[in-house]
Amino acid sequence: MSGTASVVSGEAKTVQDTADASPLFRPARLGALRLPNRLVMAPMTRNRAGATGVPEPIMATYYAQRASAGLIIAEAATPNAVGATYPNIPAIYDDTHVAGWRRVTEAVRDAGGQMFLQLQHGGRVGHPETSGHHPVAPSPVPLPDTVFTPSGHQEAVVPEEMTAEQIAATVADFAAAARRAVDAGFAGVEVHSANGYLLHQFLSGATNRRTDGYGGSVDHRIRFTVEVVRAVAEAIGPDRVGVRVAPGVTANGMREDDVEAVYPALVGELRELGLAYLHVVFADPDSALFRTLRAAWPGTLIANPALPWPGPLPADGGRDAGERLLAAGADLIALGRSFLANPDLVARMRVGAPLNPIRDAHLMYVGGETGYTDYPTLV
Ligand SMILES: Cc1cc2nc3c(=O)[nH]c(=O)nc-3n(C[C@H](O)[C@H](O)[C@H](O)COP(=O)(O)O)c2cc1C
Repeated sequence: MSGTASVVSGEAKTVQDTADASPLFRPARLGALRLPNRLVMAPMTRNRAGATGVPEPIMATYYAQRASAGLIIAEAATPNAVGATYPNIPAIYDDTHVAGWRRVTEAVRDAGGQMFLQLQHGGRVGHPETSGHHPVAPSPVPLPDTVFTPSGHQEAVVPEEMTAEQIAATVADFAAAARRAVDAGFAGVEVHSANGYLLHQFLSGATNRRTDGYGGSVDHRIRFTVEVVRAVAEAIGPDRVGVRVAPGVTANGMREDDVEAVYPALVGELRELGLAYLHVVFADPDSALFRTLRAAWPGTLIANPALPWPGPLPADGGRDAGERLLAAGADLIALGRSFLANPDLVARMRVGAPLNPIRDAHLMYVGGETGYTDYPTLV
């Protein structure tokens, strides 16, 4: 008996030593939340919702498996019908969506976790066959690529240029979606202004050719994101709101020629709102822009390290990159694929256990349990 006890306490000490050695495992505050560690599960679209955007029960299982993350940011959900990007992405604009998400947040809360929901409008990344609507965007500049639809990849269509009325209605849709997210049990929402979707399309002169108050100068191009975030913050309180940005990321045919002007200006506007966090994608602690944004942002900064894309992931799953970002001033570290493949990522990193690699990469974006809820845990 005493032998068993000493083995257990010996293991506990090793675990404690590893945990103490890394700031990743120190608790943190985020708005009103207390996070047990600084590892955030990054938002990842997994295409497991029903055809009308209602989260399926299997999504509750998947997220509850990952509840030991300091915070889970749930995958992109569309705030209105026209914003839907791909088949089987979830939505958050009617009561059926709220009911579906409530199952997810309750399962995660029962497992001890806490969640934000990412709000994403696809803009030109969408297709009438997917959403039942013609895509809308700042300007009629099509995605220079195919887009995935229920019947496979298809040429992207030329989006309709949003009118001033459509812009105002979309801002209101984001605010309403945020209220619904809180109603569904989320602690807050992340406004997606990254990765080539609608808000990012407004930020770039390559996709935003408008000549009204929403296009042209940097101040005009950042206006839509600022209006959306302000409306969302007014709807649910600023300490429940984060914003995700991806300066210079070329996903979804994006091109940005003036990130050094756009992002400091954007952050300068957002910092006045008292938000929960700013989330920077593919963050590089050695880049001048990262340092500028860190210095300009007074609140919590979540950094998503620039790991090899599409892969393979480093053997440590991003731990070293995350620690370097914390040393460079980030407060929390978001990891995507490592959480996807390791439901117990936090426990594995604490003890230095080997990580599951991503298997069947094509299963990242299609339905079913395989490659979703069947990744093994340590025990
Ligand atoms: C399957 C998959 C789906 C993703 N979906 C989203 C999404 O819905 N919203 C988003 O902002 N980023 C999305 N991303 C990007 C991730 O949040 C993250 O930025 C990216 O995977 C890089 O982090 P990692 O190297 O830790 O995986 C997705 C990534 C993957 C692999």
